[in-house]
Amino acid sequence: MGAGRTRQKEKVAATGNAIHIRWMIRRDMPDVMRAERASFEYAWTEDDFLRCLRQRNCIGMVVELSDRIGGFMIYELHRTRLHLMNFAIHPSVRRTGLGSLMVGKLVYKMTSHRRLKITLAVRERNLAAQMFFRAHGFKATRTLSNYYEDSGEDAYHMELKAPPYDPFDGFGVIGPVNRIAQYEET
Ligand SMILES: CC(C)(COP(=O)(O)OP(=O)(O)OC[C@H]1O[C@@H](n2cnc3c(N)ncnc32)[C@H](O)[C@@H]1OP(=O)(O)O)[C@@H](O)C(=O)NCCC(=O)NCCS
Repeated sequence: MGAGRTRQKEKVAATGNAIHIRWMIRRDMPDVMRAERASFEYAWTEDDFLRCLRQRNCIGMVVELSDRIGGFMIYELHRTRLHLMNFAIHPSVRRTGLGSLMVGKLVYKMTSHRRLKITLAVRERNLAAQMFFRAHGFKATRTLSNYYEDSGEDAYHMELKAPPYDPFDGFGVIGPVNRIAQYEET
């Protein structure tokens, strides 16, 4: 995974664009909706995004390329884990390493905040996403039958565990410890 990530960063760097991952703001919604609609048969509506982002444990981030949004991720903070709710890169900029950069950011959030894993559900038919997450070390740990209300499709629960915590070295990343996490619900 380490070598793979380095290669992805080289790929993105080779485009010559300035890449920036930052919090999602209201003004990003048109671009976010474009990526969402281009990515999913059963797309979230703008209301779905807003309802989710209104929750105090829900975070939205976008990846910005020079002047446009290449993709986004929405995740929930739980006491011991991060749960990826929604994630898409616009088709026009896929396979350039942007998705990998977003996952890299999420992994940093997990380790620097001392959470134990990242979890997500992926549709049974979404092989591309399954391959992508597998390439980043995620494992499918169980099947969620009839998971989606829209199509009745099954999902795979996938997760990536944090490396064991070393009290001298942390997780190998330097960052603030999350003191709020202990008060949040799982
Ligand atoms: C899954 C997704 C986010 C990947 O984003 P991306 O920016 O294209 O991914 P990257 O360029 O960082 O890919 C990294 C690696 O993941 C794997 N991968 C990515 N897309 C893949 C695909 N379609 N098929 C097989 N492997 C794939 C490859 O190993 C790839 O490395 P490579 O390009 O050197 O072969 C993107 O395809 C997407 O937005 N899909 C639609 C929305 C979606 O399914 N979201 C996930 C919901 S759970």
